[in-house]
Amino acid sequence: MNIGGTLIAGPAKGPLKGNITVPGDKSMSHRAIMLGALAEGVTKIEGFLPGDDNFATAAMFEAMGAKVTWLNAEKTTLTVEGVGLYGLKEPENVLDAGNSGTAARLITGILAGQDFHSVMVGDASLHSRPMQRVADPVRVMGATVDGREGGHKMPLSIRGGQLKGIDFVSPVASAQVKSCVLLAGLFADGETTVTEPKATRDHTERMLPLFGQAVERIDALQVRLKPAGKLVAPKDTVKIPADPSSATFFAVAASLIEGSDILLDSIGINPRRDGWRRVLADMQADLSFEREGKVGAEPVADIRVQAAALQGMQVNPDDIPDAIDEFPVLFVAAALSQGTFVLQEAEELRVKESDRIATMVAALQACGANIEEKEDGVIIQGKASLNGGVTVDAHGDHRIAMAMAVAAQKMDSEIRIENAAAIATSFPSFVDLAQNIGMNVRWEAEV
Ligand code: S3P
Repeated sequence: MNIGGTLIAGPAKGPLKGNITVPGDKSMSHRAIMLGALAEGVTKIEGFLPGDDNFATAAMFEAMGAKVTWLNAEKTTLTVEGVGLYGLKEPENVLDAGNSGTAARLITGILAGQDFHSVMVGDASLHSRPMQRVADPVRVMGATVDGREGGHKMPLSIRGGQLKGIDFVSPVASAQVKSCVLLAGLFADGETTVTEPKATRDHTERMLPLFGQAVERIDALQVRLKPAGKLVAPKDTVKIPADPSSATFFAVAASLIEGSDILLDSIGINPRRDGWRRVLADMQADLSFEREGKVGAEPVADIRVQAAALQGMQVNPDDIPDAIDEFPVLFVAAALSQGTFVLQEAEELRVKESDRIATMVAALQACGANIEEKEDGVIIQGKASLNGGVTVDAHGDHRIAMAMAVAAQKMDSEIRIENAAAIATSFPSFVDLAQNIGMNVRWEAEV
């Protein structure tokens, strides 16, 4: 677990103003490295997220023979020299996925198809997260997977094998599970079909065709892959749009602080990632698209956010996967709105980098919010402001730390947010960009 690092946050001294370019999308950055490593030829990637999670993915593929070359100091542009679908070599040491569930779960699908043995570890948070959801389907496909607690927890030991395609009905709405099975399907005899209980982010399905591998969408909940036998590096640079999950922190902050007016540049608006905007729009936030376009296979827009009086609402359970990573900061919006916000059927939040229902309830209650914990969600009665002067614990979870930094902007005095260092996993420039638009947040000086 990424323990340590304390933020001092809030209150904002005035309205938030300015243009802001958030870093590249985390989900797509993982996938671009993975597909680049498995492709024949050299893949160029732009807009890569230079976060610890994505560096972990890059390092794991380097350990299996792919060559990653950084083309700028910020590590947002790179090339990946792929080894071809059957060219990975057995890693000499354990693979380390760090804090990243996406890295661990997607790579499990790839390792399942390899003719070698590998062991994957992570940090304490990752070791507490469920892996059965990916171990089970790749076992049915023909891989041997073992781990702690009967093969349900990391470290995982994976011996790949000749896989067979399956018709997999996923018990959980998870893009990580869907992607794991599709990636294993690249190595299988025959076709693989995945059926989901609710539609989830489709970046794997959108990106595979750039590498010459078709994915057939049967309907909103079903996809099928017939393995082409190889991936080929795209001629065009793989461009990654700005991460909507990072943009949401600033969208909520600007909505809450009177007189604010910010412009978020070229944000991914894929409908399967756009739940945060739909929830905020239902809460009467003032959000508008200024310039719509496409980056690679993904739709983008500039999004203007102006302050508004937010209202409570009940989240439609079908929309939950589309906003799954944004709930910590959406709880902050709800805590500072008028009326009642209800979220149900969101038990998946309990198995993220932390138990995000419990950690947000504890942190917001410490600041005087009216938030009630339910097994599968929360009920929040909004109020006009929160009280500061307290220390809260982000539990090594990046999104809890950033959500509480946003909440602090509307407090009567500053708060300390402990165990916030994990911000580096997804948004290392968060504090700098937040300061640029006028948020009051800084790292506590190390003594
Ligand atoms: C991700 C899928 C989601 C999300 C995670 C990234 C992905 O997880 O929470 O941050 O890149 O596929 P689940 O698929 O487990 O919901």
